[in-house]
Amino acid sequence: MIRKKVGVLVSGRGSNLQALLDACADPAFPAEVALVISNVPGVYALERAAKAGVATRVIPHKPFPSREAFDAAVDAELRAAGIEIVCLAGFMRLLSAGFVEGWRGRMINIHPALLPAFKGLHTHERALEAGVRLHGCTVHLVTPDLDDGPILVQAAVPVLADDDADRLAARVLEQEHRIYPLALRLLAEGRVRVDGNRAAIAAPGPTGALVNPAP
Ligand code: GAR
Repeated sequence: MIRKKVGVLVSGRGSNLQALLDACADPAFPAEVALVISNVPGVYALERAAKAGVATRVIPHKPFPSREAFDAAVDAELRAAGIEIVCLAGFMRLLSAGFVEGWRGRMINIHPALLPAFKGLHTHERALEAGVRLHGCTVHLVTPDLDDGPILVQAAVPVLADDDADRLAARVLEQEHRIYPLALRLLAEGRVRVDGNRAAIAAPGPTGALVNPAP
């Protein structure tokens, strides 16, 4: 089996990167992480990559004169490494339309909310404030609009009475680590077809519904 070469863009602790590295440690997984790029020096994600024997690059964004110039540097590294799929994993920079277009259909992001609800930052605080009873996470194909683009996989968790943002975030993060490798596998296996803003996925259907509170 030829495994798809994956580049992961990170800015922080890299727990989602770890989930991808762990999935790729299985030789039967259809993708392998070949390069990790961070825009922030010294973050734990870089250590995780190094421990897994994966090449890393640090490209601080500040010295670049524009977003486009920074994105071009990232793009050059990805292409030089022969990357075929890009995963954003806690990468906290907006990407320019040109960069996004260049990776259309081949770049995915994980977002800590059930999109299209709660795009942007502080999703767990905003979910609590809004009083939703179900919250969760989404993996989607990246398009030029922030936290937009065809949805590949979502997981929902109940919001519990004694939740604060940290407890809710921890419950969501556990699911992020399940669905990100799943979404990467579906994309790497060529099981994703995009029709407008909708992704059709050749995969087994769901096993049931999550109702909160329980009936
Ligand atoms: C994750 O919760 C991810 O969903 C979120 O940042 C966290 C990164 O954690 N991403 C965004 O908010 C993107 N807008 P990690 O570095 O441990 O994977």
